[in-house]
Amino acid sequence: LMNDSEVTPFSVPGYACQRRCTLENHNAVLTDALSLLAENAELSDEDGRGVAFRRAAAVLKALPSAVTNMSQLTGLPCLGGHSLRVIKVSGWVSFAVLQVLTGIFGVGSKTADRWIREGIHNLQQLRDSGQTLNRAQQAGLEHYDDIKQPVSLAEAEAIRGIVGRAVASVSPEAQIVLTGGFRRGKLTGHDVDFLITHPEEGSEVGLMPKLVSWLESRVSCHLQNVLLICDVIFLLMFALFCRFSLCCFIDKQTRRWRAVRVDLVVSPISQFAFALLGWTGSKLFERELRRWAGHEKGMSLSSHALYDNKQGRYIRASSEEEIFAHLGLEFIPPNERNA
Ligand code: GTP
Ligand code: MN
Ligand code: MN
Repeated sequence: LMNDSEVTPFSVPGYACQRRCTLENHNAVLTDALSLLAENAELSDEDGRGVAFRRAAAVLKALPSAVTNMSQLTGLPCLGGHSLRVIKVSGWVSFAVLQVLTGIFGVGSKTADRWIREGIHNLQQLRDSGQTLNRAQQAGLEHYDDIKQPVSLAEAEAIRGIVGRAVASVSPEAQIVLTGGFRRGKLTGHDVDFLITHPEEGSEVGLMPKLVSWLESRVSCHLQNVLLICDVIFLLMFALFCRFSLCCFIDKQTRRWRAVRVDLVVSPISQFAFALLGWTGSKLFERELRRWAGHEKGMSLSSHALYDNKQGRYIRASSEEEIFAHLGLEFIPPNERNA
């Protein structure tokens, strides 16, 4: 980057939820570096520093063109000394190892850290170590390569078809929506996110275990029949902590088994708009919405509710549009929430 005072500086508003940010990124080289630093900070539990890097990356993502000159960045929000300074990361070796181990489905940074201290630095060493793994971690290790491979939109829609059929058979009136990155218009994702609700408050209770056992039994009993009616079938599916799931299916065209991570969330209809907004992302957009709500409006926003701190009451909303209106923000559609 050159230093030249002739250039017009960029200007963007301070909160990501005031900005329109599509998937088009003119500063990928810079934002990739900042995202890596953010990930590094988050892996070492330095959330504050991680958020600072993510905010800086989001500001650069929202710029209408590539940064060619440092002076263009003068006065932009969220670009602190750390982000502007030369990128210098120490401890790359342990960072790379942590990334591999925490990349296993079901393994968090605490477990990875313990394994590293016990001398486990890669997947083979983990397999050979005889460590006791829970059901999720076993599956994560077994399907490591599949889970690392991005999920395509076509795969997401195929899985939507299957989960949709399962939902319809355990609860005919229940509704299912694709959320997460795919709702924001992404063509690939690291997982597939679904939000499920029922038009009658209370009828969503118990839906998740029914759904999971339907999928599991369907697969073990009627493998052949399912193959006839679906483009893909589930081989197995785990519900963990009521949401993270892992499913395996066979692609009828390639005849190849493939494991995909699926996030299933069930919400009562009274909270549906908040859950939809909260699970659509992006993560930074959500964080900024909450920051805006708290700092600018004196409200607390979550994926369950909106609370007015001053009036001491919950604010109802039945659509995302209503929530934006309550927050005094212009409505931003899902495909422009890619902060
Ligand atoms: P890819 O999956 O990589 O395509 O991106 P994504 O945007 O779909 O990310 P992800 O699936 O990780 O998360 C989707 C949304 O769910 C984001 O807005 C997250 O903030 C939200 N989310 C993820 N985990 C949680 C959680 O534990 N609680 C709540 N309330 N929201 C979460
Ligand atoms: Mn996702
Ligand atoms: Mn997810």
